[in-house]
Amino acid sequence: MGPRTVGVGLLGCGTVGGTLARTLQSDHERLLRETGLDFSLRRVVVRDADKSREGVPSTLLSTRWEDLLSPEIQVVVEVAGGAGPTFEILKRLIVGGKHIVTANKVVVSEHGDELLDLARRHRRWVGFEASVGAGVPVLHLVREALAGTPVSRVVGILNGTTNYILTRMEECSETQEAALRSAQRAGFAEADPSMDLDGVDAAQKAAILATLLTRQVVHGRDVPTEGIRQVTASDIASARRFQCSLRLLALITCEASDLEVRVHPCLVPSRHPLASVRDQQNAVWVESPLSGPLLLSGLGAGGGPTTSALLADLVDIGWHLGVFEDAAPPWESVGRLRLRPSGESVRRNYLRFAVADQAGVIGEVTTILGSHGISIESVHAGVEDGSSGEGTLEILTDDSRERDMADAVKACEALAQVLGPCRRIRCL
Ligand SMILES: NC(=O)c1ccc[n+]([C@@H]2O[C@H](COP(=O)([O-])OP(=O)(O)OC[C@H]3O[C@@H](n4cnc5c(N)ncnc54)[C@H](OP(=O)(O)O)[C@@H]3O)[C@@H](O)[C@H]2O)c1
Repeated sequence: MGPRTVGVGLLGCGTVGGTLARTLQSDHERLLRETGLDFSLRRVVVRDADKSREGVPSTLLSTRWEDLLSPEIQVVVEVAGGAGPTFEILKRLIVGGKHIVTANKVVVSEHGDELLDLARRHRRWVGFEASVGAGVPVLHLVREALAGTPVSRVVGILNGTTNYILTRMEECSETQEAALRSAQRAGFAEADPSMDLDGVDAAQKAAILATLLTRQVVHGRDVPTEGIRQVTASDIASARRFQCSLRLLALITCEASDLEVRVHPCLVPSRHPLASVRDQQNAVWVESPLSGPLLLSGLGAGGGPTTSALLADLVDIGWHLGVFEDAAPPWESVGRLRLRPSGESVRRNYLRFAVADQAGVIGEVTTILGSHGISIESVHAGVEDGSSGEGTLEILTDDSRERDMADAVKACEALAQVLGPCRRIRCL
């Protein structure tokens, strides 16, 4: 039997789409040899068809997404981005018989359930490896390499921009603003970095990962999220004092009847492998009682790494053409886990209070924590400077419930000797 031809249409030809278009053409022979698939780029839909695009024949360009419904296209790769309008186009393409590969975390995290359900009903496949971690094949790891293996916890560094900023703050003593400017100069941050700094991007990816892991729908908007805007040089110094690094983590915990998904800055002990994930790197740490811990790390953005993830889905679909059409994809929900309410989350916490330099303040604060059932791992007290009469009280707690911690912190802040809001950072 000869090679199988796979007609590919592209929706979008920017950073990622351009790299994929060039790779499909420049690596055509290699892909044919290694996969047995004869990829043929048939149409490239963009907003501006007059703009010249390196390595993409102008005859392939169009501004009409309907051209992607051509019978000579089996798979459409969506790398246009955006939310509502793109989602509508994807639905029309699925109904029109196209398999989809997408890098669009916004669409997958907010409308993935509807998209996958539609695809299941039309016997079409949706590949979305590139939507989480780009060059880090985290979804294939969870869905295929760990198929059948129980996973108890996944901890991810899923946003390269914030990891770059936190690394610069830690290693170069830059302020957050200066570190952001460095990230923008290096091309790792958007002109408007809100989605990254506010943790929204990481929450969308965490939701996709949790959905795949548990086969139940988790939306990005339902993930309790705290970004890094509040992180200061004092936090970085405190982390160092407790032999930790500060990272923005996505935490997914799967227990018997419970699923917990959260995104927030975390103190990560220096000896933990995630503490050494630096700069724009992404990483996923997977814990399983069967396999033991696993760490996967790599580049979470960029045309090359994202193209690598898109190719994995394209090859997957190419290999299964004619098979996917006859069998429903296995992504129907197989049970309902409760999404654990935020207040029930349990973990260690770092607390920092500005306090009056008076005898008894440590006792007052620790008594309040104790009365809320919070035990203490270590305490560090320091005086700001000799003359101000102010000091700092830093406390590392044992595991405690989020709700108890919030109540205890509020009670401590009401003490006359506590001079301002408490700085709280959760710990891994
Ligand atoms: N860049 C990365 O490192 C990275 C990593 C992982 C995932 N992703 C995801 O990949 C997707 C693409 O990212 P990108 O960086 O390649 O974006 P980009 O450089 O801005 O390119 C977007 C492309 O889509 C086209 N486009 C936008 N809206 C369109 C519409 N309504 N109809 C037709 N074409 C449309 C644009 O056309 P014109 O060229 O004519 O303007 C452009 O070619 C996004 O979902 C992003 O989140 C990106």
